This record gives sequence, C-alpha cells and structure tokens, in this order.
Amino acid sequence: MTVSASKFYSSSADTIDSASESAFFAKLKMRNGTFKLTRPSRFRELEVAFRPLIEQRTGSLHEVLDVGVSTGLTTVELASFLKGCGAAARITATDLFIEAHIVELGPGLKILCDPEGWPLQYDVSGIIIRPWVRRLDYVTLAFIPLVLGRKLLRPRLRSRIRAGMSRPVKMITRSLPSNGEIEFEENDIMRRSQHFVRRFDLVRAANILNTNYFSPDQIRTAIGNIHSYLRGPGALVMIARTNRAQENAGTLFELKEDGSFAVLERVGGGSEIEKLVLDFRAS
Ligand SMILES: C[S@@+](CC[C@H](N)C(=O)[O-])C[C@H]1O[C@@H](n2cnc3c(N)ncnc32)[C@H](O)[C@@H]1O
Repeated sequence: MTVSASKFYSSSADTIDSASESAFFAKLKMRNGTFKLTRPSRFRELEVAFRPLIEQRTGSLHEVLDVGVSTGLTTVELASFLKGCGAAARITATDLFIEAHIVELGPGLKILCDPEGWPLQYDVSGIIIRPWVRRLDYVTLAFIPLVLGRKLLRPRLRSRIRAGMSRPVKMITRSLPSNGEIEFEENDIMRRSQHFVRRFDLVRAANILNTNYFSPDQIRTAIGNIHSYLRGPGALVMIARTNRAQENAGTLFELKEDGSFAVLERVGGGSEIEKLVLDFRAS
C-alpha cells in the first residue's frame, strides 16, 4: 500500500525500514522522467571486488563525491563500506532533485511536489493518486485528468511555495548517520560546478550514466565534469549499473599522470560506458 507523503514525513525514522522507505520514494516520478529508485545492499559484489584496491588507498581518500544518489541510501552504505576499509572520508551526495514540498490546497487535498510545483503525489482525503501518466492511461483516457490536473495545479502549487505556505521536505533517506559525514546537494552532473573542481579523491556514479538514458555526448560531458572534479593523479572513479536481476556491471578507474583513465578492476564484465571513459581526454 502506498504511504502518503504527510504520513511518511511525520513518522519517526525507526518506524520505517529501508525497504519501505525505498518503496515510498520509488513511486515518485521527477519532472525529467526519472524515478527516485534505489535499493538497499545493491552493490555488495562491487564492494567485495573493489575492497582490496580501496584498502590500499585509504590514506588518500578524504573527499568523496557520490553522483545521482536518489535518496542517498546507497551513499550511507558507501560511507560504511569506506569506514570498514579504514578510510575516514567525507561524502558529498548529489542529485538533480532533493528538495520537495507538501502543499495543502484545500480540505483533504495535500500534494507532494518539487519546488517548481511539479506534482509527485496527490493525497485526496487519504487516497493516494499518482500524478504521472503511464502507457495504459492513454488507452483508458485516464491521462486526460492527470495532464489537466498537473497543468492547472502547477502554478497554484508554485505560488504557495513561493509564499512560504508549504512544508519543505527532503527526498533523502532517514538512515543518515548523525555525524554529518554525508552532505547532500542538489546538483546537475551535466553542468560544471566550480566549487567541485579538483576537490575529490573518489567519485562514484552508480545507475545514472546509463546509455539508454543519456546520449554518448551527454555521457562525455558528465565524464568531463567528473574528470575536472578529481583532485589529481591517483584519484578514483567508480561507475556501475545494476540490471533487472540486481546484478552489477561496474568498473573502478584510476586517473593517471597524463590525465587519462586506467582500469583498476571490473565486475560483471565492466561498465557499459568504460570505452567512453578510457577514450576521454581533457581538452
Ligand atoms: C536510479 S537513481 C540511482 C541512485 C543510486 N545511485 C543507486 O544506484 O541506487 C538515479 C538518480 O539520478 C538522478 N539524476 C538524473 N539525472 C541527473 C543529473 N543530470 N544530475 C544529477 N542527478 C541526476 C535522478 O534524480 C535519480 O535520483
């Protein structure tokens, strides 16, 4: 059963396990068409394969960037993996969509939406309705009220948010460690962020730079940005993708002295974008 956003955000962290939390976020479709999908323990075989290499480098792993983290559940796991390897690293976790708002538009109507008023969940007197259109809706004509509703509600939601008449929430996991070692930031990997340049010893991009979602040119842009965010030679990049059977294909790269990347280790045959990474040359 789908939980309402107001119930989800009102309940305490210890009443929601990570599977129920992932199920709640997985039903939220962002305005770029992506879902807040993640799953606990999805990178176990990567951790096993990469562990010895990470353990050799713990002394130089201070700042880590995790790109496209969704709710950050797997970032929490990355933090404990790194700690288990002996690294004391601070992690910056980024995603295009982190901030959201719950807006009450009338008696019994609560809407979870992004800061631009894009609806993510309707709660009509406790009945949860998804705002996004699926293929079947074009057959049943259910897409008409969904599209019209979004069009009509969006400006009202946006103006309520601008007027401070909303409850701001973050689409991040409740299982965050309290020591502040993970910091979240809304960020687009397709745009260069100057405050990230030459800052990180390890960058992970898991289940984001997928070839069925981004074009090769967009992936090259993202690789260029990740390259610029690395502190220097010896810095690491981890790229991975999980398939439907929950198996991972991933590659751990190292930045060489000449600015190109070398493969340190592969899992599941390696990342599908490995060639784009290896062919990359900074201009
Ligand atoms: C499938 S989730 C992956 C979550 C996590 N890394 C994992 O593997 O469990 C992909 C995430 O990438 C985010 N995303 C999509 N485009 C992005 C972009 N251009 N910059 C940063 N994040 C983006 C989406 O919002 C989504 O939360």
